[in-house]
Amino acid sequence: MRDSFGREIHYLRISLTDRCNLRCIYCMPEQGQTFLAQAPRMTDDELVRIVSLTARLGFNRIRLTGGEPTVRPNLTLLIERINQISGIREIAMTTNGMQLEKMAEPLARAGLKRVNVSLDSLDSEQFALMTRFGKLDAVWRGILAAENAGMQPIKLNAVVVRGYNENAIADLARLTLDHPWQMRFIEVMPLGSIADFQMDSLVPVAEMKERIESALGPLEPLEWSGHTPHRPYRLAGAVGTLGFISSVSDPFCAGCNRIRMTADGHIRLCLLRDDEVDVLSPLRRGADDEELLELMQASIFKKPWGHGLSEKSWPQTSDMSEIGG
Ligand code: 5AD
Ligand code: SF4
Repeated sequence: MRDSFGREIHYLRISLTDRCNLRCIYCMPEQGQTFLAQAPRMTDDELVRIVSLTARLGFNRIRLTGGEPTVRPNLTLLIERINQISGIREIAMTTNGMQLEKMAEPLARAGLKRVNVSLDSLDSEQFALMTRFGKLDAVWRGILAAENAGMQPIKLNAVVVRGYNENAIADLARLTLDHPWQMRFIEVMPLGSIADFQMDSLVPVAEMKERIESALGPLEPLEWSGHTPHRPYRLAGAVGTLGFISSVSDPFCAGCNRIRMTADGHIRLCLLRDDEVDVLSPLRRGADDEELLELMQASIFKKPWGHGLSEKSWPQTSDMSEIGG
């Protein structure tokens, strides 16, 4: 499946739910976040059908996101079903890790190959302040459980927020010295109802690198496939790697091979644009496979280039928890 720019699109990120057991400051307001009702959310059967159709279009990699994917009921069974779809080569998940300690093993057995876990700080108070309900020790045990369950490479995400955790960057980077993990630092992105706060909280990647290099020495750039939003680096002698994600200031549109599916069954063509195509409604009206394939193919062909943040401010209609990061 190629889009109009000739990009090969074969990576589908699915938001399983817009709900979450946390309220990270860079993602949701403390109160008043609104959530989808049950009805507009894709059921397991609908989701499996949509993934099967994308597999027929050549999609082979799936990432489950949220909100928080582990709060979706029957997740293990759902992963088992996706794992059986022919053509799907890899299932990964982005999670806050709060429930990973007990879920890692059954999820791995069901076919989950990898996890990305949010880890914004190694200081439990700072961690609690940023995630509002998060428990650092639970997440840490979750990360180790995922590693023990054979998921690799373990990727960790820290969203860097001015005034909250810029002083945690070097400690997080230091983890890569002893652990074969990928530690990724993310510039906060403006989305939805808290965009003003997010815009004011940006710590540019250049500053993140400076903080790491002044504490831990030079970052050595590694070879880059161009298909991930970050270029990898390594600290001298480290067993793990580091990455920096600056989707706003340094988008990787040329290498973008992904689309997203929201929990209510809309294809979202670019993280930072509001263009979406409703697939679930036609499916519920009884559209057959051919009709749905045509709709998906036509939508994906029109996948845009460039995030357009400079043209018209930023996406207003969706929060990160609806799109899935
Ligand atoms: N900017 C950048 N990343 C974000 N995430 C959530 N909100 C934002 C934001 N405003 C990230 C989290 C998590 C993933 C689901 O999305 O760190 O890893
Ligand atoms: Fe939940 Fe992830 Fe958003 Fe934090 S960033 S509130 S863990 S969805």
